[in-house]
Amino acid sequence: MPRLLRFLLLLLFGLALMTGVGYVALTRTTHRWFETDLRARSLFVVTATKQILARNWEHGHEGLADTLEDITRDERVMGAAACTLDGQRLASTSVYPLDYGCRWVLARIEQEGAETNPWTTTEALPGGRVHLSAITVAAEGKPIGRVLLVHDLSYLERREATTRNLLLAAFFVLSLGAATITMIAERLAFRVWTSELRRALSGEVTRDFKPLVGDVRALVERLASERDREARGGPWNPARLRSTLTTHLDGERVIILANREPYIHDKTPTGVRVLHPASGLVTALEPVMRACSGVWVAHGSGTADKETADARGHVKVPPGEESYSIRRVWLSEAEENGYYYGFSNEGLWPLCHVAHARPVFRAEDWEHYVRVNRKFADAVCEEVDTEDPIILVQDYHFALAPRMIRERLPRATILTFWHIPWPSAERIGICPWREEIISGLLGSSIVGFHTREHCNNFIDAVDTFMESRIDREANAIVQGARRSLVRPYPISIEWPVHWLEELPSVAECRASVRRELGLPADALLGVGIDRLDYTKGIEERLQAVDELLSRYPEFRGRFTFVQLAAPSRTKIARYRELNDRVEALADEINARWGKGDYRPIILLRSHHEPPTVFRYYRAAELCYVSSLHDGMNLVAKEFVAARDDELGVLVLSQFTGAARDLTEALIVNPYDLGRAGDAMAAALRMPEDEQRERMSSMRRMVSEFNVYRWAGRMLVDAAELRRRERVSGRLSAPAVLARAIGS
Ligand code: F6P
Repeated sequence: MPRLLRFLLLLLFGLALMTGVGYVALTRTTHRWFETDLRARSLFVVTATKQILARNWEHGHEGLADTLEDITRDERVMGAAACTLDGQRLASTSVYPLDYGCRWVLARIEQEGAETNPWTTTEALPGGRVHLSAITVAAEGKPIGRVLLVHDLSYLERREATTRNLLLAAFFVLSLGAATITMIAERLAFRVWTSELRRALSGEVTRDFKPLVGDVRALVERLASERDREARGGPWNPARLRSTLTTHLDGERVIILANREPYIHDKTPTGVRVLHPASGLVTALEPVMRACSGVWVAHGSGTADKETADARGHVKVPPGEESYSIRRVWLSEAEENGYYYGFSNEGLWPLCHVAHARPVFRAEDWEHYVRVNRKFADAVCEEVDTEDPIILVQDYHFALAPRMIRERLPRATILTFWHIPWPSAERIGICPWREEIISGLLGSSIVGFHTREHCNNFIDAVDTFMESRIDREANAIVQGARRSLVRPYPISIEWPVHWLEELPSVAECRASVRRELGLPADALLGVGIDRLDYTKGIEERLQAVDELLSRYPEFRGRFTFVQLAAPSRTKIARYRELNDRVEALADEINARWGKGDYRPIILLRSHHEPPTVFRYYRAAELCYVSSLHDGMNLVAKEFVAARDDELGVLVLSQFTGAARDLTEALIVNPYDLGRAGDAMAAALRMPEDEQRERMSSMRRMVSEFNVYRWAGRMLVDAAELRRRERVSGRLSAPAVLARAIGS
């Protein structure tokens, strides 16, 4: 039961109890008051008429009856009777309840041995309760008889009913008020919590697994400044991105240069199949290309790529809904080994990721890197159809291409985005060709990174290794007449994700995934989705599962972690070794905690197409992204996008760029295995309303800061830069100068 509902029920129960106890106490007290009041009134009435009563007592029935009628003029006195001391009735009013006559009263008084004056009792009559009092009448100091007074108590019952109704109304109003106040307080508390996170006003720990305060502060600054800037433009989507291109950049087509192509054609025994590679870069850029159209220049790496492309390497995509082209560039095995496996993935990749892998720099790899960069730069220049095209250069495979393109197309707008972290200047200094790398990147109009920290590191590296002026105010590097802006553009994913359109409901995904994994329908499931890469912390992730099971026995036999691991860069020994280590670790943990059919770790080592990946996201209780170092990590954002049920918990490494955006995830240090295990336990025990609070907040973030906005912001900044360059180009033109000097 959700926490809030539980609290409300408890509150209502408490209020009902208090109202009940209050009602009983109030009725008893008012009863006592009324009774005392009636005794006093009875005594007063008889005492006031004592003289007349004594006189009429002697003169008999007639006079007494009149006196008694006078006494009963008060509407609450039902009747009165005068009795002798031995129980004879001398007179009574016209209305008097016969059941409580003189004999009955005398018998009761004798039975009780009561000596109080007046003697009183409360009795029930068919029409309601009555209060009966017997007051002794005396003449010359001697008792001569008794006057019986019967009070109607129905008015008392009416008052009680009114009190009860008032109390019920008060209970209702109080309950309503309390429920409303609780819900408002809950909402406010959540708002305060999220805005506290966002504003990072306090450094105090309020929740476990909280994000780093610095990250939260940066996020909030970004949200505030961007909200102001974007407020008028509406949400970012393909249409807005297209219109940004039209209005800011004259609708020019975009050319992307990226090593990985978005569609790979592979030969299979049954024919050619199209693969969507496991790549954050592709996940982000493919929707942008669909929206903008143009050309994607990439390495043709599929076994059927050549036969599916034309003579110049062009193929129209996406299959069936063609809206842009891939220009495939062919590489020899030696080129691929040197440029891709060697310099890019054995050199730059470990250089930029703090993941305890030593970078390897070989001169022959560098030569291939230079040659292949030139080859791709040439291919880009062949694709352009204006003097000032817009070119998006992607990632560490192409650090040299921006300058090479600039040399051939001086007026091009070149936006280079570095998808992996940019480390400290000290670390960059390890690379024997650091100046060439930096100089190559400075051929760009804008160099983009995921985070401000990476931008600062880049500017430091420029400062350390290059001859240039740094405009720190504008975050720009000035070399002669050229400026390169350095900007953070946290990358994201499309929103909504088109793969979700065809997917079954969350309930069906849960059922089908558990079925295909051979798990019971109520099994708890964690999921990890990665390329098999040592930066992803897959070993640490499995060890954290081990910790979870050892610390929390309740999850043994119930919790399964499924790791979808796409084989990657397997020509590199380190990747092959990782594969073996992950397998051995999974076996070890399964041997420790497995029982019967139960295995806590399921390792699915193969490429999985996006619909399968999204089905797994939707089926899981938690997704653990444990990267040891990651520029952004789009798996985290995809998991959030997949959960339109707003359930599921993201456990996220603090060393990802995504941890700066998704501050409502459970943020962990993946090296701290015990705490990571605790975080998974917290995720599995998290009440649904808290899951919803966290997930809906993250979904708002990802939907608003989607990849169209990422691309749009870069294009808008590029357009602004272009406009300035055109204006300053015109101003510095010889004719303008001559006119200025002459005037
Ligand atoms: O995460 C960094 C990254 O370079 C992505 O930009 C890319 O999509 C991914 O690694 C996959 O790498 P590869 O293209 O070598 O398989």
